[in-house]
Amino acid sequence: ELHRIPHPPYRIPFLGDVLGANRRTPLQDSMRHARALGPVFRRKAFGKEFVFVWGARPAADLADESRFAKHVGLGVANLRPVAGDGLFTAYNHEPNWQLAHDVLAPGFSREAMAGYHTMMLDVAARLTGHWDRAAAAGHPVDVPGDMTKLTLETIARTGFGHDFGSFERARPHPFVTAMVGTLSYAQRLNTVPAPLAPYLLREASRRNAADIAHLNSTVDELVRARRAASGSGSGDLLDRMLEVAHPETGERLSPENVRRQVITFLVAGHETTSGALSFALYYLARHPEVAARARAEVDRVWGGTQAPAYEQVAKLRYVRRVLDESLRLWPTAPAFAREAVRDTVLAGEHPMRRGAWALVLTPMLHRDTEVWGPDAERFDPDRFDARAVRARPPHVFKPFGTGARACIGRQFALHEATLVLGLLLRRYDLLPEPGYRLKVTERLTLMPEGLRLLPERRTSVP
Ligand code: HEM
Repeated sequence: ELHRIPHPPYRIPFLGDVLGANRRTPLQDSMRHARALGPVFRRKAFGKEFVFVWGARPAADLADESRFAKHVGLGVANLRPVAGDGLFTAYNHEPNWQLAHDVLAPGFSREAMAGYHTMMLDVAARLTGHWDRAAAAGHPVDVPGDMTKLTLETIARTGFGHDFGSFERARPHPFVTAMVGTLSYAQRLNTVPAPLAPYLLREASRRNAADIAHLNSTVDELVRARRAASGSGSGDLLDRMLEVAHPETGERLSPENVRRQVITFLVAGHETTSGALSFALYYLARHPEVAARARAEVDRVWGGTQAPAYEQVAKLRYVRRVLDESLRLWPTAPAFAREAVRDTVLAGEHPMRRGAWALVLTPMLHRDTEVWGPDAERFDPDRFDARAVRARPPHVFKPFGTGARACIGRQFALHEATLVLGLLLRRYDLLPEPGYRLKVTERLTLMPEGLRLLPERRTSVP
C-alpha cells in the first residue's frame, strides 16, 4: 500500500530521491522532507524504499508492543559486523538477547546506580580540573570533545574498572577514533547501493576493518586483565558478563558474546550521553535566564556540599527538565525502527504485512505541533514540568526508544548527565563563544559541531 504514502517530487531511476540530498546529514535531510511531506512519508534510495513516521498518532501506534517490535535495520544492521548479537544489535529472535538482558539488567538497578555515583564524581572532577585550567587561562573549551572524554571514562570506570586516561591525552583515545570511524562507516553504507559498496567504499571499508580490529583488541585486553585479576570488579558490568549465570536457565554468556557486549556498552554507553550533555550546555549558554534558574536550584538543593550524595541528584528537577528539553529538540540517537509482528494496519490507515517496517523520526515526533504547540521549535524546559507532562498523550517523547528493546542505560545516562550539569552550573558561568551558530553533525548519533564555551569560575558559590 506504499502508493498512498507521499514521497519527494523528483525521482531519478535507480538512484531514487537523492536530489539535493547531503550524504553527511541524512537525518537532517529526512527532517526537511518530513516538513514538506507530512507525518508518514517515504524516501527511495538505490532501489530500496524507506517509510518514515513522525506524526504523534502513527508513532504512538508503532509503540504498541502487541503488533510491533524493534526492527534491526539500516544503521543498526550496519553495526552487526562490530557488535554482532550484542544487546543493541541483536535480532529479537536471537537467544542471546534475552540471556544478556536478564544477566545485565540488575547492573542498572537503583542499588547498582548508587554504587557508580562516587566513580562518576571522580571522573567529573577530572573534567572540572581541566576546565579550571582553561578558565584561569581565559581559553575556550571544546564541549563535545570534553563531554566525550567524560562519558567514555565514566562508562569505562563504572562498567569495566578501566581507565582510558582520556583527560591526560591531547588527542582523542584511539578507541574513540576507531569508534567514530565505524559509526560513520555504518552511516555511509546507507548512502550507496549495497552491491556497489565494496567498490565505492573500498578504501573506507579497509579502514573500517582496521577500526573493528582495534576495537576488538582493546576489548580483548580489557577482558584478559580482568580474568587475570579474577573478580576485582566488585560486581560491575564486566563481572556480570563473565561470572553471572542466568537466574533460571543457569546459562552464561559465551566469550565471543562477552566481546560483543563490552564493545556495545563502551560505545552505546557514552556516545549518546556525550551529545545530550553537549546540546544541554549549548542551550544553557544560549539561554542565560534558564541557566540562572537551573543554577539557583543547584545552589538551593546542594548547598555547600563538596560532593553531592546520590539522592541529591534526582532532586535537581529543573536541571533534569533542561536535559529533557534538549533531548526533545535533538534526541542524540535520532531514529529507531519498528516492524509489524503480524499483518496489521498502521494508525487505521496504512496496511502493513508482517515484517514490514518503518523508521520513527524522533526529532520530528518531538516537534509535532499538534502535541507540542505552535512554538514546538522553541527551547522551553517548562514543557517538562509535571503538570504539562500529565496533560500530554503517552508515547510522544521517545529519546530512549520504546518497549522491550528500549534503552537499558536510561537511568544511568540521566543520573550521569544531571550530576555533571549540576556540577558545571555550580562551578562556572558558561559564556558562549561569540558568533557560534548551531551546526549538527551526524555519525548515526548527533553532536553540536565545533561548540566551544568560555567557562568562568563563579565567585559567589554557597
Ligand atoms: C538502546 C538512546 C544512553 C545502552 C537505546 C535505544 C535508544 C537509545 C533510542 C533504542 C534503539 C532502537 O530501538 O533501535 C540512548 C540515549 C542515551 C543512551 C539518547 C543517552 C542520553 C545509554 C547508556 C547505555 C546505553 C548510558 C549503557 C550504559 C543501550 C543498550 C541498548 C540501548 C545496550 C540496547 C537495548 C536492547 O535492545 O536491549 N538507547 N541511550 N544507552 N542503549 Fe541507550
